[in-house]
Amino acid sequence: MLKSNVAAVFNERRKKLMAMDPDGCFVLFGAGEVTRNNDVHYSFRQDSNFLYLTDFDEQDAVLVLVAGETHLFVLERDLDREIWDGERYGVDRAKAVFQVDHSYLVKEFYSKLEELLADAKRVYYSLGENNNKRDAMMISVLKRASRYQGKGSHGSLPLLDWQPLVSKLRIVKDDFDLQNIRKACSISARAHTLLLKRVRAGMSEFEASAEFQYFVFKNGCTDLGYGPIFAGGYNATTLHYSRNNELLKHGDLLLVDAGGEVNSYTADITQTFPISGTFSTEQKKVYEKVLQVNRTIISEIKPGLTYRDVHTRSVELIIDSLLSLGVLTGSVKENIESKDYRKYFPHGLGHYLGLDVHDAGLYDNRGVDVKLEAGMLITVEPGLYFRDRGNPYYGIGVRIEDDVLLTDNGCEVLTHELPRTVDEIQNLRTIANS
Ligand code: GLY
Ligand code: MN
Ligand code: MN
Repeated sequence: MLKSNVAAVFNERRKKLMAMDPDGCFVLFGAGEVTRNNDVHYSFRQDSNFLYLTDFDEQDAVLVLVAGETHLFVLERDLDREIWDGERYGVDRAKAVFQVDHSYLVKEFYSKLEELLADAKRVYYSLGENNNKRDAMMISVLKRASRYQGKGSHGSLPLLDWQPLVSKLRIVKDDFDLQNIRKACSISARAHTLLLKRVRAGMSEFEASAEFQYFVFKNGCTDLGYGPIFAGGYNATTLHYSRNNELLKHGDLLLVDAGGEVNSYTADITQTFPISGTFSTEQKKVYEKVLQVNRTIISEIKPGLTYRDVHTRSVELIIDSLLSLGVLTGSVKENIESKDYRKYFPHGLGHYLGLDVHDAGLYDNRGVDVKLEAGMLITVEPGLYFRDRGNPYYGIGVRIEDDVLLTDNGCEVLTHELPRTVDEIQNLRTIANS
């Protein structure tokens, strides 16, 4: 879709945010370049909140929403810089392409803001999100603005954080969100499936990762949503293993947690499969337990439950699995209280998903659990990890992660294309190893 065709989507989102407080003035900074080493930058990624409201993907931009209008501050055209870094939109083109009411140069921001605050009763800015210099500048503008309005003796305008309001919008996905997320999930699920046919013992974790990345980039993704995890054998028991630099060994499992991005929306998928082609007895037992938890949760999840309900249910199911594997003893209730299960299942069942892999949105609102509703997207990712020597399952790490969209009566699994049963996986692994 061309930028001009989607501008209406972003305009609608901004209108929704402004409707949450018509007397407020919202100030959001976009991301800047981040140094990787010496004079090399990480590839630029716009701040997700900024992206959600603007679709504007140039660095150092600022967004101000006030009195029903959008003001976008962008970098100046600079042909000398553009030779090195690429073309910039500049003020006029940014206004036309992104269909904002007003656009200006970033260097005009602080003085312009002072004027824009004239009609506002409150300012929404997220302190601590940006660098200290920006926070200090914002505070000094607020101070000056209070005098500008002739309100010096009443103090400056109340300062609030826009995060809860923007999160409230982002938590329920709109059509544009879903169109991109569906694509990211489908491409990523097919890339995971390809791995089942391609991975062999002797390959490095990096090489397996390259197979995944080649497929997602060839099929429409433009980035990965997070550092991929390609964890062979014991490495799978490290939750955020990221070195990906070991060789894959016969007899081990490979845990792959990776997702491609489409239009900056990411999938978040984990699969675990045997490098040799067949699961050992212990690996199969653990895998089937985790799959059973994943499937049970997916069959039960529906609007009206809270994330805590679903997580608690997954803990009961995991404990039940650990009891039947002989790893824990006692009752489910005793194990919930002792928290001994956390040694083997140390993370939550999942999280919201969208522009960020761990997406915006509250799980509880000042002590009141947020109810799941249609249009929310969450991951379902039970796992079991055995790091204790002497345990018959020592060295096994299994996670099975799907992305599910809440519907009116239940959920839709956006990652349904993945083969998940032991037989389905072993059949594909036979092809790879033949
Ligand atoms: N890939 C990170 C996570 O599953 O939360
Ligand atoms: Mn996840
Ligand atoms: Mn994941």
